[in-house]
Amino acid sequence: MHALAQAQPNIALVKYWGKRNSTLNLPAVGSLSVTLESLWTRTRVELDPALRTDELTLDGRAARQREIDRVSALLERLRRLAGSAVHARVESANNFPTAAGLASSASGFAALAVAGSGAYGLALPPAELSRIARESSGSAARSIFGGFVEMEAGSADDGHDALARPLLDASAWPLAVLIAITSTREKEVGSTDGMTHTAQTSPYYQAWVAGSPVELQAARSAVLARDFDALAVVSERSCLRMHALASSADPGLIYWNGATVEALHTVRALRRGGTPCFFTVDAGPQVKVVCLPSATGRVAATLREVPGVVEVMQSTLGQGARLIAAEHAPARVSA
Ligand code: PMV
Repeated sequence: MHALAQAQPNIALVKYWGKRNSTLNLPAVGSLSVTLESLWTRTRVELDPALRTDELTLDGRAARQREIDRVSALLERLRRLAGSAVHARVESANNFPTAAGLASSASGFAALAVAGSGAYGLALPPAELSRIARESSGSAARSIFGGFVEMEAGSADDGHDALARPLLDASAWPLAVLIAITSTREKEVGSTDGMTHTAQTSPYYQAWVAGSPVELQAARSAVLARDFDALAVVSERSCLRMHALASSADPGLIYWNGATVEALHTVRALRRGGTPCFFTVDAGPQVKVVCLPSATGRVAATLREVPGVVEVMQSTLGQGARLIAAEHAPARVSA
């Protein structure tokens, strides 16, 4: 049995930062995101009764033990559901740089949840796939769905209510997303370590958690009303507050480089001049800019002029994770 799945990264407009339960990986705050179209992870899971442990290659290289452990933990949950003890060979490839703040864990674990459940013969509904992906990476729960997606923090101890749900289809409000790459180095502090450190040491953490429902409500209303200006205001506010929070940890976490800051000023200047665009930044130095499709060319050209921006990638909003081949199809992962 094998299955091949594709998932795309998502970009949070209302940010998730902080966990209410680290063991179950339950978020302390809800979040709201857009799923991209042109960046992807393709993951192939092949069951092999001859294997004694799971095997993993990432972009053609043998994975590190830490990466294998995270993949095995998700496969183990699927094996429990399927009543199977068979291990798997997993090949995963991204068409974008891994672990540089482009949400490769989101598309990676969403693709793994879908390919793995296909390979183990489980027909799981999207909400269940979202819950399974969430246990590996909070943001991965959102990449199960396309378009605009909301992730509930939930309040149940067992986390059954901590899952994502679709809010609005990509086709209902076709926005564009530009990604200004300012560095392709892997980030020094991953999101899980960064969140734990922030929750333990920032004096502002409780205020961040308490303020989250209001931000989500504002973003949800803006999306449902297709109100670009309102979405711009709440998205930039959530991004700047998340980074203010991370930098208020002790020692503070600084994910930006000089080019990141220059790009933020550039986006603000464009918007002041009437171009419909706004920025957001995740746990890395890349700047994501959301704009109306008519502004894409102008925004991309302006971002390319920012000193230190090495590349600008472009995407529309896309679909959720899905199976693209299963069972006996001779499909291989290729980037
Ligand atoms: O779920 P993780 O571990 O990929 O953490 C995601 C954290 C941010 O990207 C910074 C914010 C978000 O909501 O995606």
